[in-house]
Amino acid sequence: MTMVPTALESWDGDPGFLRSTMNGLTIVVKLGGSVGGEDTLPADVAVLQDAGARVVLVHGGGPLITRWMERLGMEARFVDGLRYTDAETLDVVRMVLSGLVNGEIVARLEASGARAIGLSGGDDGLLRAVLRDQRLGMVGEVSAVNPVPIELVLGSGCTAVVAPVAVTDEGQFLNVNADTAAAEIATAISADKIIYLTDVAGISDGSSPTPLSRLGPARARQLIEARVIAGGMIPKVEGSLRALCQTGAAHIVDGRRPHCLLDVLVGRAGLGTTVAPD
Ligand SMILES: Nc1ncnc2c1ncn2[C@@H]1O[C@H](COP(=O)(O)OP(=O)(O)O)[C@@H](O)[C@H]1O
Ligand SMILES: [Mg+2]
Repeated sequence: MTMVPTALESWDGDPGFLRSTMNGLTIVVKLGGSVGGEDTLPADVAVLQDAGARVVLVHGGGPLITRWMERLGMEARFVDGLRYTDAETLDVVRMVLSGLVNGEIVARLEASGARAIGLSGGDDGLLRAVLRDQRLGMVGEVSAVNPVPIELVLGSGCTAVVAPVAVTDEGQFLNVNADTAAAEIATAISADKIIYLTDVAGISDGSSPTPLSRLGPARARQLIEARVIAGGMIPKVEGSLRALCQTGAAHIVDGRRPHCLLDVLVGRAGLGTTVAPD
């Protein structure tokens, strides 16, 4: 009889080493909107789950939201790089994030041998928010995180897949930034690691084509001030800084690279930027 190898046995490294380093670790991973071309991520998560890690995935969905708005004849508007969200846009955001993207990620994980449960920020008060800025419409700032629904999912041996929509105390849904939500979740569940998978090789300081391998808080703030770190990189760096007191470091990694998640966790060289105290 041939035995089907477990996800961990099919990994190209030493399973014993991975189990000893990952068992019991809580890892929050933010998936960028453009991550997933190669899509080795579900397999990596299955390996991590086999090794005993507790994984939380927080996903974006910006490009798909924009595509669906176009299909529906709606115009996407941005104010200072943030999506202007009126009531109809919010409906599309919720449909795409919770309906399409979240379900798709859960199904892909299951097909790779991982176990996964999808959550929206509305479930059991997972993500609470307050209105951020009237000019942005229905966009929120995360004001509180209830770790209980995530703990329930992790405690049952599943990966938690979180759609970053949040709800006000009055029960109104708000659109929130996924990078910020990931950092707040990492803090609330006392995560050991936070990793941002995105569509660039790491954080660039504007002077060299190679991204920085390390970035400290003071320099990070300077680069934001100087607008060298801009647009979608700002909430990742701010989220990294926010999570530092909990995780000690944050990683901003090229999500287009096959097996980027396992590689960064086992410390394989040359992967992205580590944000950590100097
Ligand atoms: N200093 C910087 N280094 C690297 N990328 C930067 C920097 N400043 C701004 N960016 C931009 O941030 C983008 C990543 O953020 P974003 O487009 O929101 O992707 P994601 O879907 O991963 O959140 C990069 O594609 C890049 O254009
Ligand atoms: Mg982004």
